[in-house]
Formats: sequence, structure tokens, C-alpha cells
Amino acid sequence: MSSIASPERIWWNPLSRVEKFWVVLAIIVGLAMFSSMFIWMAIGKQNIPTETYQVTKDQFSHASQRMVQQYRVRDDAGVPVVSPPAGSDVYLVARAWQWSPILQLKEGETYRLHLSSMDFQHGFSLQPGNLNLMVLPDYDYVATITPDKAGEYTVICNEYCGLGHQAMVGKIIVTE
Ligand code: CUA
Repeated sequence: MSSIASPERIWWNPLSRVEKFWVVLAIIVGLAMFSSMFIWMAIGKQNIPTETYQVTKDQFSHASQRMVQQYRVRDDAGVPVVSPPAGSDVYLVARAWQWSPILQLKEGETYRLHLSSMDFQHGFSLQPGNLNLMVLPDYDYVATITPDKAGEYTVICNEYCGLGHQAMVGKIIVTE
């Protein structure tokens, strides 16, 4: 007695009505999801306005250092905490494996958040809140943000960037 028997026929020939129904349904769902990408791009409230510029690592690092020198209020475990004026440009530097500085922003005020990397690709992920942005070297990625809830937010890296990836944690503080 053989345990493996050949099928009696090619199962999809002829294609049954049930099988046809599921194939068509899968195509319709796929098309609906595909078109929703464009719909959300136009009307989705989750999209924050972004701009991208080319920048050298030196330029970006200097801009961030200038901000730190002017607006540093204290240190937190060796990382400077800066409190830049409402409405200003703020710079967050990603490097293996740290986010710097810690930004202290005011609730209800709008800032231009600049992100860039000094080495590899990193991923900016704000928790809680689930805001995700890609951070690449040589690009200044500018997100216009208005924090709407005071609290302490954690920035984690969500692009694998080497041995210290899981320890690449930063902070954004929003005050009332
Ligand atoms: Cu930076 Cu993962």
C-alpha cells in the first residue's frame, strides 16, 4: 500500500465556482487596499508635512550643536536637554547608537523637526504615538510637528543599524 497517491486530476481544472469567487474577492480587496494608499495620502490626518533637503554631516551636526549651545537647560545621563523657543527649527541627530539631544518642546506650539544621521540608516519611531520617520545620512528630513499632549516620549530606532540597535533610545519631552 502506497501512502502517497497522485491526485486524480489537476485540482484547478476546471476551476470550481467557490475557487473563482475567492480569487475575484482577493483581487478586489487587493485593488481596494492599493487605491487606499492614494486616498490616505490626500486626506489622511496621520501624514505630517515633510520636506527633504540634502545636507552634509558637518552642516547638520553644526546646526544641532548651535542649538545645543544656545538652548541647553541641563543634562540627562550625559545627553544635553535643550529647550528651544516655540516655533523654531529643532535638530535631532541620529548616530550609532544614540539620539541627541533631548528636545524639550511646548505643547500646542509648532516646530520644524530636522532629522539626519551621522552614519547609517536609522528609523525615528516616537512612542507612544506611533510616529515613524526614516533617518538617512546626508539628508535633512524636516517634519513640521505640533505636539498636542504633554508628557515624556521615547524615541526608538526601528531600522536595524548594528550591534547597539536595540539600545538606541532617545527622549522628547513635551511641557504644558
Ligand atoms: Cu539606529 Cu537601529
